[in-house]
Amino acid sequence: MLRTPLCDLLEIDVPILQAGMARTGASVTTPELVAAVSNAGGLGCLGATVMTPDHMRDQIRAIRRLTDRPFGVDLLVPRDLEGPDLPRDEVRQEIRRDYPDHWQLVQSLYEHFGVRPAGGNPDPYAISPTLIRQQVEVVLEERVPVFVSALGDPGWAVPDAHDRGVRVIGVAGAPRHAARQLRAGVDAIIAQGQEAGGHVGGMATLPLIPQAVDAAGSVPVIAAGGIGDGRGLAAALALGAQGVWCGTAFLFAREANVPDLHLQQLAQAGWADVTVSRIYTGKPGRTFDNEFKAAWRKAGLEPLPMQYQQVLMDDFCADAEAAGRHDLSENAAGQIVEMFVEQRPAAEIVDTMVAQCVATLDALARLRDGEDSEVAG
Ligand SMILES: Cc1cc2nc3c(=O)[nH]c(=O)nc-3n(C[C@H](O)[C@H](O)[C@H](O)COP(=O)(O)O)c2cc1C
Repeated sequence: MLRTPLCDLLEIDVPILQAGMARTGASVTTPELVAAVSNAGGLGCLGATVMTPDHMRDQIRAIRRLTDRPFGVDLLVPRDLEGPDLPRDEVRQEIRRDYPDHWQLVQSLYEHFGVRPAGGNPDPYAISPTLIRQQVEVVLEERVPVFVSALGDPGWAVPDAHDRGVRVIGVAGAPRHAARQLRAGVDAIIAQGQEAGGHVGGMATLPLIPQAVDAAGSVPVIAAGGIGDGRGLAAALALGAQGVWCGTAFLFAREANVPDLHLQQLAQAGWADVTVSRIYTGKPGRTFDNEFKAAWRKAGLEPLPMQYQQVLMDDFCADAEAAGRHDLSENAAGQIVEMFVEQRPAAEIVDTMVAQCVATLDALARLRDGEDSEVAG
């Protein structure tokens, strides 16, 4: 009842995409969550950025056991991957040697918060050209229906993906990124405003979407950043988008893998409690403003380039979580966080969003026809 051409392209029933979401050492997006969204008629998406290729493959196969509907895999494919193409252990050694102040700061924060260093993240590679190439290879080998490439430029993977029937969606945070995604040959573009949880650019959703739509021409645009209910979906459609990509709303899905402490932080958070910093990944990201971020800010050290900062913080977050200190680890969420308090089944989130969008569009039609003077909330 709410189809757009994007639904035909992705072979889904309603234009709601659950965003890929990873956290240190884990994914928010369990196979159960991805399958529940796809089974409800939307597109579920596995956030696989931090997964080893073997783990990714297992998760993709687990999703296939739970649904025969299309789904996606989201990977971080940065355009300008700074830093070396080295295993995590060697990056650690480089940090100790080349950035002793950063290494020392994190050691002092372990002590300050009473967290015992316990080996950090055990995965052999952090984000690096080697890992990304291996991850993309798994997506293509497994012929995942939709590959979402965040941050950068997936152009090098598009021909192979298309040969294997894989649709490619690129993420843009500014109109010129949309133009770059077009040149890369993507099938659709996610235009994400800075209200979003996770990595963000500098532009807000409202000015971004119509400009991305204009830049994209006949390629469908999917709106993201601050969209979590049917009113947001209706607004996105009004701006020319053909669907929405929602992260924060699905943090509150029953099937999502979010630590209880993170949910408690978010359930009490207001929009000003989710702030942008480079502390957790080296790229600007919107996360809950916890005591760890405050302590780093107080120290006044600029975070390192992406790969180094991520290795440094992956270790701290893994050790903090192993010690039960989830309150200190990365907890990404967007500015709509205050709209959500209770957990709900993912299918209910999708269904409610569709019903509210239809009601909003009906109310707007009545407004146009002069039958009503206001749009229902
Ligand atoms: C907890 C969390 C983790 C995220 N992890 C990733 C990720 O690994 N890769 C990615 O491309 N985007 C990631 N994002 C961004 C989402 O994919 C999506 O673009 C964003 O959540 C949309 O905005 P919204 O949060 O306002 O709905 C993350 C977002 C959240 C909230």
